[in-house]
Amino acid sequence: MAARFSFDPADPALITDPYPVFASLRAQDPVHWTEHGYWVATRYDDVRAVIMDRARFGQGDFVRNIQLFYGPDFDVLSHPSYRWLSEIFVFQDPPRHTRLRGLVTQALTARRVAAMRPRIQEICDTLIDDLEPRGHMDVIHDFAYRLPTRVMCDMLGLDDEEAPESVLQQLNQAIAEAFLVFGMEALPADILARADRQMVFMEDFFAGVFARRRAHPRDDLATDLVNAREGNSQLSDSEMVTVAIGLFGAGFETTAHMIGNGLLTFGRNPAEWARLVATPELARTASDEVLRHESSLIATYRTALVDADIAGTPVAAGQRVLCLLGAGNHDPAAFDQPDRFDIERADSSRHLSFGGGIHFCVGAQLARLEGEIAFETLARRLPGIVANPPVPAWRPGLLFRGLTELPAAW
Ligand code: HEM
Repeated sequence: MAARFSFDPADPALITDPYPVFASLRAQDPVHWTEHGYWVATRYDDVRAVIMDRARFGQGDFVRNIQLFYGPDFDVLSHPSYRWLSEIFVFQDPPRHTRLRGLVTQALTARRVAAMRPRIQEICDTLIDDLEPRGHMDVIHDFAYRLPTRVMCDMLGLDDEEAPESVLQQLNQAIAEAFLVFGMEALPADILARADRQMVFMEDFFAGVFARRRAHPRDDLATDLVNAREGNSQLSDSEMVTVAIGLFGAGFETTAHMIGNGLLTFGRNPAEWARLVATPELARTASDEVLRHESSLIATYRTALVDADIAGTPVAAGQRVLCLLGAGNHDPAAFDQPDRFDIERADSSRHLSFGGGIHFCVGAQLARLEGEIAFETLARRLPGIVANPPVPAWRPGLLFRGLTELPAAW
């Protein structure tokens, strides 16, 4: 099949600004076969149809999926980072997915999330109390990483003694480097080696946490996970560690970049920032519009479990599909003037940035709450903040879209 586009997920131009490429694909070849041997879906309806269709599209054979990028001789599971990826439940099909997901959804019920509001507000206010007199910050490291990291620590039950600031910084760095294995490309050997080392560091850290909770139980999620194993459910030691790293990472990396991408987008759209400053209660819809317009997770993928099709284009069993959530979010057939950033857009919450179907983000309510509180508090307390660097510094990798730094002043 002739490829009319050369779609390269590692192309620096695509990382800098993926939306023009997404628009061309969507208009000219919406179900695109790449020269790398997988499909790319870009229309809102097609992306949604694939991620909702658990009968025909799922996760498939993990090792084979990764060997697509590295070649058939690549020993996938000898790499700690890929071994971990192979075990997290976002890459499992039922019934294993159902069992592991059930344990986590219990910890993230609407009631539990709503009860976290005062604590999230307190964390936000304390961070801004420290930053306000300085008049400037790097949004990513001084604010965006710190808020969700502390929220996730609270949730898991890691206190200052167990996870002091220096360890939190190590964990943040470890997640950022280890999570590069999520993606649709082979990583260079040195980057993969670093991802592996960081994964081993995190496995050791969380194994230590669980050993301490077994000896001294507390009222926290880490203890709940230990009990789930020792009760009726069969969560093994390595499953506990895998779930904890997955939750910690999924809960902080995406949320941090939602805040960073949001402040960048407000910097580029000062009239929208002025609207938020005038009416901070708009922060709730604003965080959904940030997720639609400049999502921190731009893609996910599925494997055809049987011979299937996407809007009539045949997809053979075993073939992979890159579902470009970010392209669907900018589809003019789904959103009016999709490239316009409008914090009062009535239907922005229909975005695809939390996925859909059986893998719909378990942390969506928590992420929305953190986004709402962060944008509301920033608009109220630092109304003059401007973050619009001439050349934004995007992190590598297409899946997670976020900045490595974002200078801002007020
Ligand atoms: C802005 C923030 C976030 C974004 C954009 C986001 C996005 C997503 C997306 C797109 C998926 C589906 C992946 C797929 O279908 O392949 C997902 C799944 C998941 N998310 Fe989030 N997420 C965010 C925050 C969070 C938070 C705060 C947590 C945890 C506290 C979390 C935990 C998870 C987990 C565990 C899954 C796997 C669900 C499953 O496979 O059943 N996420 N997320």
